[in-house]
Amino acid sequence: MTDYDIAKVRAHFPALDSGLAFFDGPGGSQTPAVVAEAVRGTLAGPLSNRGDLTVAQQNAERAVVGAREALADLLGAAPEGVVFGRSFTQLTFDLSRAMAKSWGPGDEVVVTRLDHDANVRPWVLAAEAAGATVRWVDLEPETGELSMSSLQEALSSRTRLAAVTGASNLIGTRPDLAAVAELVHHVGAWLYVDAVHLTPHARVSLTESGVDFLGCSTYKFFGPHAGAVAGRVELLEQLHPDKLAPATDAVPERFELGTLPYELMAGAAAAVDFLADLAPGTATGRRARLEASMVAVEAHEERLLTRVEDGLRALPGVTLHSLAARRTPTVLATFAGHRSEDVSRHLATEGINAPAGCFYAYEPARRLGLWPDGGLRMGLTPYNDDSDVDRLLEALTAYVG
Ligand SMILES: Cc1ncc(COP(=O)(O)O)c(C=O)c1O
Repeated sequence: MTDYDIAKVRAHFPALDSGLAFFDGPGGSQTPAVVAEAVRGTLAGPLSNRGDLTVAQQNAERAVVGAREALADLLGAAPEGVVFGRSFTQLTFDLSRAMAKSWGPGDEVVVTRLDHDANVRPWVLAAEAAGATVRWVDLEPETGELSMSSLQEALSSRTRLAAVTGASNLIGTRPDLAAVAELVHHVGAWLYVDAVHLTPHARVSLTESGVDFLGCSTYKFFGPHAGAVAGRVELLEQLHPDKLAPATDAVPERFELGTLPYELMAGAAAAVDFLADLAPGTATGRRARLEASMVAVEAHEERLLTRVEDGLRALPGVTLHSLAARRTPTVLATFAGHRSEDVSRHLATEGINAPAGCFYAYEPARRLGLWPDGGLRMGLTPYNDDSDVDRLLEALTAYVG
């Protein structure tokens, strides 16, 4: 057993006082009071543009430096490589356009049928605009796994970039990133990983996995609505996005257009600190505390996942679509004779939040034959407990059982 104290964790979330059971974490997590306070305090304190002269300037500077350091610890990256933005989608569009400036006919870009569309469409559109070719990596519908042989076939000496998910937000599949990185680097291409759905559930590391760019969204792990991409600094130095004439050309600032959202950056840093405090054991230093906490989170979520899946399998007419050997605690299910949307609607009347749909996982939903209705998605988070699972299974049994 770990020292994971679920009652203590839950006490940090004012939204849990509502009495709702939240299985909608993959869409966005609830917010601890400390994170909300970091946002409020930054806005309410003296605050102006960054600098070192006035307290107001220093507060803005501190928020920026603090967020880069925190996100670097979370993503196993260098603070100088952390680019902050409005969302993962916005950052990926921006970076795809910056990268595509050096692409042309004969170049190839690899995308997958497992990814959320935020890590597909920006690359497809950028490749098309540059005259480059798009190659697709398949998903194995029977297992939910990314096909490594299809990846191998898609890669060649012409590949400039491969965009691969760290975990599917639809069915939870977690490809082996180190193995993917080895194949991609073998042909001399760059690897851009969407870790939006992975980061809330597992220990991630840009450097250890050998990935070149790793993106996350802070609102998926208790932070405010924003995103960040950590890149290898030497690769970011090679990219030259469009920018205003007087704006700095320094990395990572040159990728961050306009004034930064200081209050959101303070909130993001507070969210990382909150994660690090979840169950650090005897670890010291924020990265080590994060690693220990994420191991405890995984164990907690894994135990609840087993309960959810066992309970679902006992229901008549249920199909589970989240089947991969390594996956996040995110279950996608359909129910014979019931529309997923109706099941979700019924759960909502019982105070249980579990949405139905495809969640912008356009390619996997189509490949699995689930487009456009999708399924019922039940995602576990660090604040779910056994009583949430009891309520979910009871309500489902009453409706479809
Ligand atoms: C796996 C995955 N990638 C990307 C996104 C998009 O993130 P953002 O809202 O930060 O653009 C999401 C959002 O649900 C997601 O789950």
